[in-house]
Amino acid sequence: MPTSPNGLRRKIWVAFILQAAAISFAAVLGVYGASAVLKHVLIQQALQQEAAHYWQRLQANPGADVPDTYNMTGYLVPAGGDATKIVFSGVGKTVDEMRAALNAGILCFNVESVSELHRLNRVASELGKVAPVSFRVNPDVDPKTHPYISTGLKENKFGVPIADAPALYRLAASLPHLKVTGIDCHIGSQLIDLSPLADAADRVLALVDALAAEGIVLHHIDLGGGIGIRYRDETPPDLAAYGRVLAARFAGRREKLLLEPGRSLVGNAGLLLTRVEYLKPGEDKNFAIVDAAMNDLMRPALYEAYHEIVAVDERNVPSQRYDIVGPICETGDFLGFARDLAIEEGDLLALLAAGAYGMSMASNYNSRPRAAEILIDRNEIHLVRERESQDHMMAGERLVY
Ligand SMILES: Cc1ncc(COP(=O)(O)O)c(C=O)c1O
Repeated sequence: MPTSPNGLRRKIWVAFILQAAAISFAAVLGVYGASAVLKHVLIQQALQQEAAHYWQRLQANPGADVPDTYNMTGYLVPAGGDATKIVFSGVGKTVDEMRAALNAGILCFNVESVSELHRLNRVASELGKVAPVSFRVNPDVDPKTHPYISTGLKENKFGVPIADAPALYRLAASLPHLKVTGIDCHIGSQLIDLSPLADAADRVLALVDALAAEGIVLHHIDLGGGIGIRYRDETPPDLAAYGRVLAARFAGRREKLLLEPGRSLVGNAGLLLTRVEYLKPGEDKNFAIVDAAMNDLMRPALYEAYHEIVAVDERNVPSQRYDIVGPICETGDFLGFARDLAIEEGDLLALLAAGAYGMSMASNYNSRPRAAEILIDRNEIHLVRERESQDHMMAGERLVY
């Protein structure tokens, strides 16, 4: 389809902004669009009320890209976040983290084991507090996603088996420094099919009703996150349809519904900008060696995840098929295989849909500083995180000899 004048103008503008950004901030750069995160309003509209509360999952993106819940009390509360809107999930909560969360006054601990329950009761007692608790139940539903991001099957480490939950709730209700407030469930990430989410919701609701029948009344039901986004050719769930799935189940109920979206809020709002250092033709394949690497965007190396890769500028050179690889000494250091691109050395490439689990998974592997991040809001570019320097990276190190 020919590009419309508006489409063309937009393309030129985007290329210009990205070139300018790369010149100002160096090429390995996380770029986020400010306007791309509001579509979850659709779920709220479908629910036709304000009962849905969004707890943005911080794991997906800590800077502009949103910290892991493990760090969230340490990170969010000092940053001005509202502790009463924080739920704390995770199978390995430490004593220090529990203390910090109790002192901050978070909404709820999503408890994932009996040992954790007893530890939380002890820590709360030492502080003279009562900890609000939910159990994160594992409903044993197949979320039909990549095995590394499936969390709701019984072989996964997450949550307590749903069949054990009634006995655990009775135990929690008997412990003096705990107050049972809710229930939680998160079955996985990058879900394309809504039916596992609906199945999980049905199992959780049946449990909530059974608990109420024996006098354990819950105030909130947290159904986690997990809605997928398009990386390649997936058809991600329509958010309004997800809203309808929830509305059908929650109509007439008194519990507050909480959701924890991560990827679907920010995934498509970000891209990773990188520059082609070398084009290296080979007998079997051609390589485009770029200045970004697996430390900047780990998803391809970790899950063989696909990210669309586009050339920022149009070139009048023949298109060729390239493997797009980073400079690190690992064959797993690739960003994409067999991409047809008309490019020259020095060109900028954009790796799309890098707004979630991009920067939040980035590391200093190979002594590489993490990229800067910018936010584009209409015509303005804001630097939201500086590129790391050698000084940043060495700050905590000590010489022994
Ligand atoms: C407990 C919990 N809730 C919510 C999320 C967010 O999931 P997503 O980014 O798929 O929406 C995660 C992701 O790991 C999670 O572990």
